[in-house]
Amino acid sequence: MTATPEFTLACSDAVAWLRSLDTSSVDLAITDPPYESLEKHRAIGTTTRLKHSKASSNDWFDIFPNARFAELFGEIWRVLKRNSHFYLFCDAETMFVAKPIAEAVGFKFWKPLVWDKKRIGMGYHYRARYEFVLFFEKGKRKLHDLGVPDVLEAPRIHGGYPTEKPVEVSEVLVQQSSQRGDTVADPFMGAGSVGVASVRHGRHFLGNDLCAEAVTTAKGRLVAEGAREGLPQPRERYGDPRAKQLLLAGAE
Ligand SMILES: C[S@@+](CC[C@H](N)C(=O)[O-])C[C@H]1O[C@@H](n2cnc3c(N)ncnc32)[C@H](O)[C@@H]1O
Repeated sequence: MTATPEFTLACSDAVAWLRSLDTSSVDLAITDPPYESLEKHRAIGTTTRLKHSKASSNDWFDIFPNARFAELFGEIWRVLKRNSHFYLFCDAETMFVAKPIAEAVGFKFWKPLVWDKKRIGMGYHYRARYEFVLFFEKGKRKLHDLGVPDVLEAPRIHGGYPTEKPVEVSEVLVQQSSQRGDTVADPFMGAGSVGVASVRHGRHFLGNDLCAEAVTTAKGRLVAEGAREGLPQPRERYGDPRAKQLLLAGAE
């Protein structure tokens, strides 16, 4: 019999949250930060409408500056087990910034995967139809199915959380780079598409987002998938070096 997948969610800064996780405790990291170049698209007007999205009740979120990539990737490297994969959703501009920083912390960069959204979106110079998912490796790990192509097709989500990603894309990554019973982490989970993909395939999920509304949405989706909530981790303890001892001591 297979155990029910468990999830634990938090509402904190991504790096502070990662610091609260044990070293070598995660089998796979998949994440989608609100990268700096999104701000540029907004400044020239193509995504201004998302500032107060009509498509959802959420305000547009703050960006995560490129200058913080080194600490972010360093923490992702630390929490990942040996011989594991890390996937980063981003655009072309962010890929050029992120790749050398991730390599400097030790990751091997394999290639960008393309998420083909099947239909054109916004933009003035060749309208946007794809996003990248950068494929990194810590140590050596074989993909589950060597026949999977590097273009992953899935229609964009309309009317969901801002920049919500289709679960189908993460399902491919989860199945390719982890096994049932493994733990998948996403420090910028938004509405929890990575979490849904993880629990749907029998993986446990650790998720975090700075936005409380995102955490509530993600929790609802995970419960609807039949996953069970694991041990809560109080927000005020993230980044606190004594957090683990306090948790172990059962103190509130
Ligand atoms: C691009 S969205 C993620 C969307 C997600 N992949 C989904 O499918 O719904 C980025 C998320 O990062 C969150 N965020 C922004 N700054 C953050 C930070 N410093 N730490 C953690 N989360 C942050 C935002 O609230 C937003 O939900």
